[in-house]
Amino acid sequence: MTLPSSQFPDLRNRGVLITGGGSGIGSALVEAFARQGCRVAIVDIAAEPSRALCEKVAAQTGQAPHFIQADLRQVDAVRAAADEALAGLGSVDILVNNAARDDRQALEAVTEESWDESLSVNLRHLFFMCQAIAPHMRRQGGGSIINFSSIAFMLNMPDIPAYSTAKAGIVGLTKSLAGKLGPDNIRVNAVLPGMIVTERQRRLWLTEESIARMQERQCLKRMLVAEDLVGPCLFLASDCSAAMTAQTMIIDGGVF
Ligand SMILES: NC(=O)c1ccc[n+]([C@@H]2O[C@H](COP(=O)([O-])OP(=O)(O)OC[C@H]3O[C@@H](n4cnc5c(N)ncnc54)[C@H](O)[C@@H]3O)[C@@H](O)[C@H]2O)c1
Repeated sequence: MTLPSSQFPDLRNRGVLITGGGSGIGSALVEAFARQGCRVAIVDIAAEPSRALCEKVAAQTGQAPHFIQADLRQVDAVRAAADEALAGLGSVDILVNNAARDDRQALEAVTEESWDESLSVNLRHLFFMCQAIAPHMRRQGGGSIINFSSIAFMLNMPDIPAYSTAKAGIVGLTKSLAGKLGPDNIRVNAVLPGMIVTERQRRLWLTEESIARMQERQCLKRMLVAEDLVGPCLFLASDCSAAMTAQTMIIDGGVF
């Protein structure tokens, strides 16, 4: 699937920080925002795919995204990455909190350490990134924050207790931050993807059978891919959604 051709002229020259932008859905967002004429920063733990993506985007648009290597499980690293993004881009108008790891955990195998580890990679950094970026957005008169949750927490999935907890928590976090930051014209919304077939999902978890089973449960009978998240995120970033905050947008092909 190719990126949608829609243009959002108000996004031109905006600063966009995308966590986990090096691969999967995040990489489609990096390309898409760059093609809208945004200045883009990627924060990701994985250097190789992120640098390759920066080269690809530079060849397409003439402007390389600003890559910041950071392990977002560490709060100090989150704060340093926010500072570096602000210094590199000049401004951050849009923050996309996308980085996560959907590792499977059997109930019996969960330890205090593995529980904390999962929440640090799937929930904690979203709060601390918002905390670091919000004062800057407030000073510049507003901004848009997009937090990646998942429909997984609503599907009674047995092997992802901590991930599901984190993704449900992101909805609560989104609503609380929307309440706090709304008076500063900072909008905070969440997107909840369904089964998005990325390279990592195929390598680790998905089979042709599981993909077909999910399509049976979708109204739309096709495989969803990373590019399917682009339109909703551009919309939430743009002034087209200027009155929309504290909302959750499900992009799952209509799972029933
Ligand atoms: N793919 C799906 O089916 C699906 C479904 C529902 C929700 N989501 C959500 O969408 C978002 C993107 O998912 P995806 O499938 O593209 O994931 P992905 O694993 O393909 O990409 C995640 C990115 O985050 C980065 N990352 C992981 N740990 C990090 C860390 N500690 N510090 C910094 N970066 C780190 C990875 O390097 C990677 O580039 C996630 O929030 C995920 O929970 C995905």
